[in-house]
Amino acid sequence: MTATQQAEKRTDATGAPRHLLAIDDLGPEGIGEVMRLTDSFVEVSRRPIPKVPALRGKTVASLFFEDSTRTRLSFETAARRLSADVMTFSAGSSSLSKGESLRDTVLTVEAMGVDAMVVRHSAAGVPTQVAGWVRGASVVNAGDGWHEHPTQALLDCYTIGRRKGGLEGLRIAIVGDVRHSRVARSCVTAFAGLGAHVTLVSPPTLLPASLAGWPVEVSHDFDSVLPKLDVVYLLRLQKERMTEALLPSLREYTATYGLTRRRAELLAPGAIVMHPGPVNRGVEVAAEVVDMDVSAVTEQVANGVAVRMAVLYLLLGSGVDLASA
Ligand code: CP
Repeated sequence: MTATQQAEKRTDATGAPRHLLAIDDLGPEGIGEVMRLTDSFVEVSRRPIPKVPALRGKTVASLFFEDSTRTRLSFETAARRLSADVMTFSAGSSSLSKGESLRDTVLTVEAMGVDAMVVRHSAAGVPTQVAGWVRGASVVNAGDGWHEHPTQALLDCYTIGRRKGGLEGLRIAIVGDVRHSRVARSCVTAFAGLGAHVTLVSPPTLLPASLAGWPVEVSHDFDSVLPKLDVVYLLRLQKERMTEALLPSLREYTATYGLTRRRAELLAPGAIVMHPGPVNRGVEVAAEVVDMDVSAVTEQVANGVAVRMAVLYLLLGSGVDLASA
């Protein structure tokens, strides 16, 4: 496929993005547009009947080849709140077990009449492959291997924006297993693109082999970084993606890089604690810190629905006037 054909597959006739595969597909301006749309959908979500007809007649399929609670449920809720039909695919009970290929699975789902596919897979690059296979559907990356999780970064930008009034000039630390984290990759790009100063706080074994091109600083001293931060963004140890022993012990990791109660008390007034979930309480963060006022974890989840409504509307709703929806 030529570069022109590839560009045509990624945009519609008006030049609007057809897919969301990585946060760079939006850029800072596109992120701003999603944030503005999200404000409208937060308002919709607060109505007694939190539903608008913006995507009536459209069908959204969720194709999750890897487990999920937040992302899957919030995309399906978002689609229903926009009045789209939802098609749910479960890898475990599908004909993949009979040897059907990923490509044939995707084309089979598309043949039933699907306007968007929300795709999660444990292998990096699968949503991009799917976007190359489909004929007309939009593809949204719901997390692929270590690569990207763009809608997580969008809901995090929105959550920070609501608490802090924007990201410009904020000091944000992303703490923990950066190496295996698709969330970290999307968040670094989004946070830095919106003007935040990002520091990675991690043991050397849990950093990527190369940070060339990453707009970040690096620290191995959590205690010295903590008091200067506006946002502490904690990551789970992603054991499902670790193929070797990278830590001496969990106890040592928690002692050095965990957000303990003592460390939470070092945070500046107004600083917030975030985590994409699922949280391993007592490992990367003390159980009680997740429930303290500094924690924005529940807001992140709540905002995820409205952000995903905005993404689906942006990809599928062109031509629909949101004000009359
Ligand atoms: N943050 C996130 O992607 O959570 P799930 O794996 O539960 O979707």
